[in-house]
Amino acid sequence: KRKMILDVDTGVDDALAIAYAVASEEIDLLGITVSYGMAPVHYTYRNTTEILRLLRRPVPVLRGSSQPLERAKEYGGEFHGTDGLGETLGEAANDPGVPDRAVDFIIEQSRKHKRDLTIVTTGPLTNLARAIREDPSIVGTIGQVVAMGGAVTCPGNATPFAEANVHIDPEAADAVFRSGLPITMVGLDVTRRTLLTEREVVEWERTGTEAGVLFARFARFYLYEYRKYYPYLEGCALHDPLAVGVAKNPAFVRSLPMFLRVDLEEPGLGRTTEDLHRRAPTGPNVQVCVQVEASLFRDDFIDQVGRILAE
Ligand code: BDR
Ligand code: CA
Repeated sequence: KRKMILDVDTGVDDALAIAYAVASEEIDLLGITVSYGMAPVHYTYRNTTEILRLLRRPVPVLRGSSQPLERAKEYGGEFHGTDGLGETLGEAANDPGVPDRAVDFIIEQSRKHKRDLTIVTTGPLTNLARAIREDPSIVGTIGQVVAMGGAVTCPGNATPFAEANVHIDPEAADAVFRSGLPITMVGLDVTRRTLLTEREVVEWERTGTEAGVLFARFARFYLYEYRKYYPYLEGCALHDPLAVGVAKNPAFVRSLPMFLRVDLEEPGLGRTTEDLHRRAPTGPNVQVCVQVEASLFRDDFIDQVGRILAE
């Protein structure tokens, strides 16, 4: 089994990624670390624990960063709703008693499992950047990082240039990409080609389970938001689930080694580009996914998630 930490900012497609990971037998999910992202961290933390309760999987959840490394954060409610889950769970209380343990957890587990550990990130890279800042030695031991974020061959979604997870905390993404960690980047280049459609959502609703009905509700919110912005797509992007998919089965994608850099200045703030001057001293720093076997991945995703929601 593949030992995994999921680092999330739960979000609709993060919730789908969590369901996919816990449903997949090949994955041994050690814990889920949470950061702010599409919503404040006490929302994303509450969303994560609630999803796991519904799925009846007692995976440890560690609350993490509440803001970017250097920048102020503002939250937009589009796509995921103000609660992060399509207005299905409503307001979350901020319990100041929940400690920020995500960074310690990442460090502990990296020391313990070394090469056997895969970290999949589906939100801003703040937690991981803080972990490698606190203990740079983990860079040499972590087996693999699969990060949903960035866009190299296509436009962004937060701005015309930048993808949201990188745009939210570009300094964190920059630190992680430069760190020497073995990183596979699952960006919009591939995630926009893997879509969830109304058909799957109807199936989830039909399960009649508490989880199935709730997942259908927030997935439908996401579908409708998507339709407003991208009427030419036949569904909404499975960004975060694809990152879990790539960690599970690298054959879902084709990737190329690149010298990747993050723009830290406007107007391209958060843009991920290939450094054509190849200034990185040690060679390509990121494996960038450029092609995806969309139906292979979708079949596995629909199968696993459909099964767990029906339980
Ligand atoms: C990323 O931003 C969020 O909207 C999604 O959850 C995903 O992680 C896509 O750009
Ligand atoms: Ca996310």
